[in-house]
Amino acid sequence: MRKSLIIQLLLLGVVVGAISAAVGFLIPWLPELGSTQGKRIDDIYVLTSIICLAIFTVVAAVSIYTFFKFRAKPDDYEDGAPIHGNTVLEAVWTAIPAALVTIIGVYSAVVLVKNEHVPANAPVIEVTAQQFVWSFTYPEIGVTSGILRVKEGETYELKMQSRDVIHSFWVPQWRVKQDVVPGIETTIVVTPTKTGTFPMICTELCGLGHSTMRTSAIVLSAADYDKWAEEQKSAAEAGGAESGKQVFVNAGCGGCHILADAGGAGEVGPSLDKVLPELTADQIRESIVDPNKVITPSYQPNVMPGDYGDTLSDEQLGALVDSLVSTSQKG
Ligand code: CUA
Repeated sequence: MRKSLIIQLLLLGVVVGAISAAVGFLIPWLPELGSTQGKRIDDIYVLTSIICLAIFTVVAAVSIYTFFKFRAKPDDYEDGAPIHGNTVLEAVWTAIPAALVTIIGVYSAVVLVKNEHVPANAPVIEVTAQQFVWSFTYPEIGVTSGILRVKEGETYELKMQSRDVIHSFWVPQWRVKQDVVPGIETTIVVTPTKTGTFPMICTELCGLGHSTMRTSAIVLSAADYDKWAEEQKSAAEAGGAESGKQVFVNAGCGGCHILADAGGAGEVGPSLDKVLPELTADQIRESIVDPNKVITPSYQPNVMPGDYGDTLSDEQLGALVDSLVSTSQKG
C-alpha cells in the first residue's frame, strides 16, 4: 500500500517535471546570444531555472497527488488529524532554500566580477545619452556617430554620460544593461561575439520620446571594422568637414524628427518634411539653438535639448542649417 503510493507520486513527479522542463528549455525564451558576458549571465539563468523547475515539480506533484488522494468523501464532516509541526521537515525546508539562495548569490557575484573586469588596453567608446538620442565617440578614431560600431571578439569599455535625465543602455543580445546617470560616469564592459545589427534600446522612462530612443549596435568582423575605422580616420584627416546631413545623423536629430532626405523617422518633434518649407534659414537656426522660443502648434516646450548651440561647433551648425534649407527647397 505505502509502496504503490510512492510509485504513483514518483510517476506524477516525472510527468510534471518533463512538462515543465519542456516549457522551460525547449521554447527559446531569450533573444539570440551575442556576447561573452551574456553567456555567463545566461548560465546563471539556466542554473536558476533548473532550481526553480525542480522545486515547482516537487510542489506541483505533491499538490496534485493530495488533491485527488485525500479528498473528503461525500458526507464526511470530520476534522483532519491534529498536527503540531514537524521539526525535521521544517529544518529541511529551511536549510535547502538557504543553501540554494547562497549558491545563486555566490555564483552571481563571481559572474559580476568577471563581467566588470576591464582588460588592459581595452578600447574605450564614450557613450552620450540625452533626450532622446544616443551618440558614440571613438577617441582612437576621432569620430562621433549615432550608431555604435564594434569589432567582433574585442572587449570594449563603454564610458557613459547623460546630458539630462537617467537613461539606460541595453542591447538585448548582449544581455548587459546599465543606467546612464547625469553627473556620474557609468561603465559597461562588453565583448561582442556575433556579427550583425542589433537593436539598442533605452530602458529607463526618460520623457515623451523614451520609446523612440533607439539605435543600432553593429558588430563587424575584424576586417570590416578596420576598413570602416580607416575610412573614418582618413575622412577626418582630409579635413573633410561633416556635411549637414552627417551632423543631422550624428547629433541624433532623426530620433525625434521625420526628415526623409536624411533618414529621420522620429515622431516626437514636428516633422521637418512639413515645417521646413515654411521657415527661413534664420528661423531654422533659431529653432535649433533656442528650441523653446517658437513652438510648433500641438507640440510641447522643453522636449528638445536646448544645448545644441553649445554642443555643435559653428561649422557643424552652419552645415546643418544649410543642408536643411536646401532640403526644404528641394521639396
Ligand atoms: Cu532615454 Cu528612455
